[in-house]
Amino acid sequence: MSRLVYVLNGPNLNLLGKRQPQIYGHETLADVEAACREVAAAAGLEIRFHQSNAEFQIIDLIHEARETAAGIVINPGALTHTSVAILDALNAFEPPVFEVHISNVHKREAFRRHSYVSLRADGVIAGFGTQGYELALLRLARLLEADG
Ligand code: DQA
Repeated sequence: MSRLVYVLNGPNLNLLGKRQPQIYGHETLADVEAACREVAAAAGLEIRFHQSNAEFQIIDLIHEARETAAGIVINPGALTHTSVAILDALNAFEPPVFEVHISNVHKREAFRRHSYVSLRADGVIAGFGTQGYELALLRLARLLEADG
């Protein structure tokens, strides 16, 4: 059975560590990738880690994941709040999907409280900083174990 997990990041997350550090912290996306690789290796998962500022590329990656992956961890950035197309792509993906937000979106502007992706996600982590990615990977590993 596949142990491959896609970790997908949407717009502006390439600026992690540089943009609004008071909200998103000082770690870079490279730091997040390194932490994810460490957790994944310890949990026996393989990961493909991607970031794109282009909605269609995130959709193409979700389509690619349909063929191979046992789960998706996704921080869609602002596309969370706007993209029916990403929701549709995730609805065409059967294994578990976990939505991650570094900040607590419920504590911020009202428009951040609505997530299209949450209509599909099996779990949502918000406000745990970049550790949220690691927690989502641990949850996926647990689910995959339970599946045998
Ligand atoms: C975010 C929250 C979104 O509202 C925002 O547009 C982002 C990052 C987060 O990780 O907290 O780009 O997804």
